[in-house]
Amino acid sequence: MKVLVVGSGGREHALCWAIAGSPLLTKLYCAPGNPGIAAVAECVPIGALEIGTLVVFAQEKEIDLVVPGPEAPLVAGLADAMEAAGIPCCGPTQAAARLEGSKSFTKEVCDAAGIPTALWERFEDAAAARDFVTRRGAPIVIKADGLAAGKGVVVAATEAEALDAIDAMMDRKVFGESGAAVVIEECLTGPEVSLFALCDGEDAVLIGSAQDHKRVGDGDTGPNTGGMGAYSPVPCFPPELEEACLAQIVRPALRQMAEDGMPFRGVLFAGLMLTEEGAKLIEFNVRFGDPECQVLMLRLKSDLLAALQAACDGELRNFDLRLHDTAAVGVVMAARGYPDNPEKGSAIGGLDKAAALPDVSIFHAGTRAAPDATVVADGGRVLTICATGPDLSTARTRAYAGVDALAWPEGFCRRDIAAGAT
Ligand code: AMP
Ligand code: GLY
Repeated sequence: MKVLVVGSGGREHALCWAIAGSPLLTKLYCAPGNPGIAAVAECVPIGALEIGTLVVFAQEKEIDLVVPGPEAPLVAGLADAMEAAGIPCCGPTQAAARLEGSKSFTKEVCDAAGIPTALWERFEDAAAARDFVTRRGAPIVIKADGLAAGKGVVVAATEAEALDAIDAMMDRKVFGESGAAVVIEECLTGPEVSLFALCDGEDAVLIGSAQDHKRVGDGDTGPNTGGMGAYSPVPCFPPELEEACLAQIVRPALRQMAEDGMPFRGVLFAGLMLTEEGAKLIEFNVRFGDPECQVLMLRLKSDLLAALQAACDGELRNFDLRLHDTAAVGVVMAARGYPDNPEKGSAIGGLDKAAALPDVSIFHAGTRAAPDATVVADGGRVLTICATGPDLSTARTRAYAGVDALAWPEGFCRRDIAAGAT
């Protein structure tokens, strides 16, 4: 099979790495890719949002399967455009991608399908939103209804904070039209986990789960980021609970989407909070998480490409998708200044030394190859240093050995990834 992966982050590097190991693969392309991906795939200089160019490329190269990494091209209609050109794409249509693109859409699906989630209400009028907050009190959660680059959620500990958030989103429009409407939710508490299922429109199989560390600093301090590290398995989320969430959250959502004429194909990411009343859905994303994908790919026993093809063909029902009974930990190395203002251009040394350590794998994200072949930082999140082991504690020690083998003073990471889990 000829495969085109779309994206350029650590997630896409991990996807390419897993697909490259498939006996079904004859040729792997990645658009646009990165220097790490270039070791396992042919990188082509087409941006992930250049949908028309991607379709022409896929036609020219007779691509058998397109594998989208990030949500933005899906929300922009990549899967629809590929489908219209007769090219299988393992991702949701633009209509189905609204599960990530619109908070209120997801909440409506939850209510229609009986999926456990926080109580909510949507407001287009700032005065009505403020009045609701005053009546409900804090803590309370304010969310911009549309996509806001992961920053459109304020978990307000006080009423004043909630009112400020409404002011910023609805009056000052800091997220543009994404904040023209807000969703206000009951505040849930408990550990958060990310559950991943592969879906074929009708059926879903469990890929696995992971825990992400969203704040930039140790001890969950500082601003939110795309994710500073992840580990899998998650001790507080055992397999029987994963299966229960597949049955009570993922499958009902799939049934509802199919009933509403928007069957969901691709990877469905359920962000869950394990509350005292049971697991509740915080959000759906229509793709793998980054860096959750990196640790899950390292644990994957089944052939990823065969699984993605089965999802595209509507044949997941009997697909036996399995993980190895190992643990994996991924530590994100970011450029100094991330997430606000990452410094670009510093040289990263020690990559070969780190990658040669036992059970260590390095996935590239924001890197660039300088003319002399040195790898330099070229983004916020730059590398994910991952390791596997028989248990989380061993995997964690190995991952940090990888981090410590790097010679990159301008980079930093959290030192407590998976620390609370072992
Ligand atoms: P979201 O973009 O919806 O995933 O929200 C981002 C983060 O805000 C989540 O990962 C949670 O940590 C937090 N959050 C979202 N909704 C709630 C809620 N209803 N109660 C408590 N925390 C929440
Ligand atoms: N790591 C969380 C995400 O990819 O959205």
